[in-house]
Amino acid sequence: MTAQSISERLDAAMMVLKTHDAMHLADGLDRLDEDALDAFVQQIAGIDFEEFARLRETPETGETANAKIEPALVVPRRPENEDAYRRAGAEAISRGEIAAFTVAGGQGTRLGWNGPKGTFPAACITGKPLFRMFAEQLNAIDAKYGITTSWYVMTSPLNDRDTRAFFEDNNWFGRPLDSILLFPQGVMPAMDDDGRIMLAEPGRIAVSPDGHGGSLRALDRSGALEHARSRGVRHLSYFQVDNPSVRTIDPLFVGLHLEHPESSVEMSSKMIPKANAAEKVGVFCRIDGRTQVIEYSDLPTGLAEETDDRGRLRFIAGSIAIHLLSVDFIQRLTRGDADSGLPFHRARKKVPYWDSDRGETRQPDAPNATKFEMFVFDALHFADRGLVYETDRVEEFAPIKNATGVDSAESSAMLQTERAARWFEANDVAVPRNAEGEVEGRIEISPATGLESCDLADVDLPKMEPGQDLVV
Ligand code: UTP
Repeated sequence: MTAQSISERLDAAMMVLKTHDAMHLADGLDRLDEDALDAFVQQIAGIDFEEFARLRETPETGETANAKIEPALVVPRRPENEDAYRRAGAEAISRGEIAAFTVAGGQGTRLGWNGPKGTFPAACITGKPLFRMFAEQLNAIDAKYGITTSWYVMTSPLNDRDTRAFFEDNNWFGRPLDSILLFPQGVMPAMDDDGRIMLAEPGRIAVSPDGHGGSLRALDRSGALEHARSRGVRHLSYFQVDNPSVRTIDPLFVGLHLEHPESSVEMSSKMIPKANAAEKVGVFCRIDGRTQVIEYSDLPTGLAEETDDRGRLRFIAGSIAIHLLSVDFIQRLTRGDADSGLPFHRARKKVPYWDSDRGETRQPDAPNATKFEMFVFDALHFADRGLVYETDRVEEFAPIKNATGVDSAESSAMLQTERAARWFEANDVAVPRNAEGEVEGRIEISPATGLESCDLADVDLPKMEPGQDLVV
C-alpha cells in the first residue's frame, strides 16, 4: 500500500469539513508549511464531528429537576468490623490487584503554573513536586506489601510531552518502567455562540481535554485496561493530581469496596463532611435509589441548607474525587452501548479564536465559547450500588487549585503540617501549638517514614521546637 501524499490527505480532510458544514476551519491554510498541514489533517481525523453535532443539538438537561433527591448512605469513618475490612484490603493489595490511577490531564488554569500541574512543588517543606509525592507513596506501598504497584497517569495532548519529559528527567522516580503507563485523554472542540467548532489559528482547532470523565474511555482506548488486566490488576484507585494528601491506595477503603454489603464492587467513593452549606463541592446524593454526585451549582439551595434534628446538614457528603473503580466496570462502561456512555456537561469559557477578517488570533474579554466535559463521578449512576465512605478532611484533602487563598499551595501546606502534627500527637510526641491551636512551625513526613499515623509507632520522632521546620 502506498502512503497517501499530503495533498491527497488534505483533500480527504476537506471532504470531511464540507460534509459537516465546517469549511471555516480551513481558513488560512495557504499560510501553512507541510508539517503544519500534516498536523491539521491529523487534528481533523481525531475529531468526532457526529458526536459534536449530537451535543450541539442536545441542551444539557437538569436531570435532577423532577427526581426524588435524598442524601446518600454513607459508611462512617470508623465502620463496624474495621479491622476485618482493613485486612481484606491489605490482602488484595498484596496480591497486586489494586493499581494507582492519577488524572493529570487538566489545564490548571486557576493555578497558573507554567507546566503540568503534577510538576508543581507541593510538599510543605522540601517542595517535592506532586508526581514525586505520589511516586514515593507507591515506593513505600511496594516495600510494605512486597509488590510492584502499577501506576496509570492520564495526561492530555496538551501536556503529554512535558509530563513524559518530567518523568524521564526524574528517572521515573526509581519505579520499574513497565509498571508506569502515561497516556493522553481525548479532547473536544470548543463551540462558538453560533454552534460552530472554533479555530484558534490557521491549521489549529480550539480544543480542550474532555474532562476527568474522559479518563474512562482513555483507559480503554490507550490499552491501559489491557495492561492492567495482564498484570492481574482488578481495581483502580483513582485520584486527582492536585491533592498531595491523598492516600494513593488505602487498605481500609479497598476492603470496604470489596466486601461491604453496600458495595457492588464496581465503584466506591470517599467523602468528607461539607464545612458549610455553601462550600463549593459536589454532594453525594441518592436519586431514585442510585448514588450520584450533584454539582454544588445544581443542588437546590433549599436542599443544600436543610439540616437534620441534630442541626447537621442533611446533604453533607462532599465529594473529594477519590474513587475505586473495578476494571470490569470501566470496561462495561466504555464498551457498552451508547446509552452507557458518560454525559457531557457544558461550561462557558474564554477561548482565544481566529478572526479571519483581521487575520489574527484574538483574546476574548468575556466567555465566548462552550466547552464540553465529562465528569468521572457520573459513572456512579451506572454502578449497581455506589458505596460512599466518610474520611477526614485533614487526613486526605489538601487540594492545590488556586495561586493564592482558598485551596492554594499555602492552605495545602498548612493542612499537610496539621496532619503530620496529629500523627506525632497520636504517637505521644507533643507539637508546639499557639493559642489558636495552630502548629508553630512546619512538619513534613516522608512516605518512606510512614503512610499513616500507626506507621510511626516504631519511629524515633524528634522533639519539635517552636518555629522549626521538621522533615522526618
Ligand atoms: P479541575 O476541575 O480542578 O481542573 O481538575 P484543572 O484543569 O486541573 O484546573 P482549572 O479548572 O483549569 O484551574 C480536577 C482534576 O481532574 C483532572 C485535573 O488534572 C485534576 O487532577 N482533569 C480535569 C483531567 O485529567 N482532565 C480534564 O479534562 C479535566
